[in-house]
Amino acid sequence: MTEIPVISGEAVFAAIDPGIAVERTRLSFERHALGEWEMPPKVYLDSPPNGDFRAMPARGDGLALLKWVTSFPGNSAKGLPVVRGEILLSDAETGEELAVIECSSVTSLRTGAAAAVSAQALAAAGAKSVGIIGCGVNGAWSARCLAAVGYGPGVCADVRAEPAEALAGELGWRVGDRAEAAAQDVVVTVTPGREPVILASDLRPGQHVAVLGADAHGKQEVELEAIERCRLFCDEWEQASAGGELSNGVAAGAIRREQVTQLGEVLIGSTVGRRSSEEITLFDSTGLAIQDLAIVQAIYAAWQDGRIAAPLVEL
Ligand SMILES: NC(=O)c1ccc[n+]([C@@H]2O[C@H](COP(=O)([O-])OP(=O)(O)OC[C@H]3O[C@@H](n4cnc5c(N)ncnc54)[C@H](O)[C@@H]3O)[C@@H](O)[C@H]2O)c1
Repeated sequence: MTEIPVISGEAVFAAIDPGIAVERTRLSFERHALGEWEMPPKVYLDSPPNGDFRAMPARGDGLALLKWVTSFPGNSAKGLPVVRGEILLSDAETGEELAVIECSSVTSLRTGAAAAVSAQALAAAGAKSVGIIGCGVNGAWSARCLAAVGYGPGVCADVRAEPAEALAGELGWRVGDRAEAAAQDVVVTVTPGREPVILASDLRPGQHVAVLGADAHGKQEVELEAIERCRLFCDEWEQASAGGELSNGVAAGAIRREQVTQLGEVLIGSTVGRRSSEEITLFDSTGLAIQDLAIVQAIYAAWQDGRIAAPLVEL
């Protein structure tokens, strides 16, 4: 019999704050770029007409995990979460199960943290102000992670007043419209990707744009004409070119592999990031299992140290 902890989302948030999430997420991009952590591309299982399931494995530092996670964009209207699922954590040397962890908490922390890591690596020197377009679950965590590493104040824009007001109130930022948010130094888009929320006319020299919402084919948050004005970065080319924001430009023949730099390469110093204060940088995040692994490694360590209470289950 194997006895393993089942760790709730509440326990995850109690153990991992946004600052830790940013550090862990940066480490995951570095380890992956160094070839130390392994990750096949995520597998999508469409569930039309409402959304899709994703299976996301990764291995590193003696651990292996599988995240089984959803994106059901219409769920908000039904009062249900868009992102839900579980992470199975195993010992990579013996295959032994170690833990089951609620996954939307981990997803939120590492998704928001990716926006912050991209800003730290690519935003212009002196960039401070933040625009959040789409202030739902992952938009809010992006704002919290950016605030935790010194960005802000910011402008919170959403087609619904309530999430923008709640986020602005929490962080002491302000509510604004889409164009105001898109005018800030660091702009983060985290909408369901049903229509572009960044237009070519919004962009000005020196901005950094982190595009998080388009994480599956058919989603788009940035006009192609706007993308063409930016120096392009992504979390991982295979995923971004197949299902991220950049996939729209790849399909249109407007974006080629050699135009896009993976963030990890900038972080380990093997490629140059921003080249001038005038450049507009765009980071396409599709969400990587290695990011989950870095957060889960910290969660499991916290449980081993007795800092997380979790029920034990015999399998
Ligand atoms: N890149 C990643 O790693 C990653 C991780 C998790 C989720 N996602 C994706 O991010 C998106 C958002 O996920 P979520 O969990 O935050 O959903 P959510 O429903 O909690 O938040 C989305 C928010 O966007 C707002 N919105 C919708 N259309 C808008 C528009 N045109 N302008 C401004 N705001 C708009 C909604 O009102 C809502 O508040 C989804 O597409 C999801 O698949 C990406």
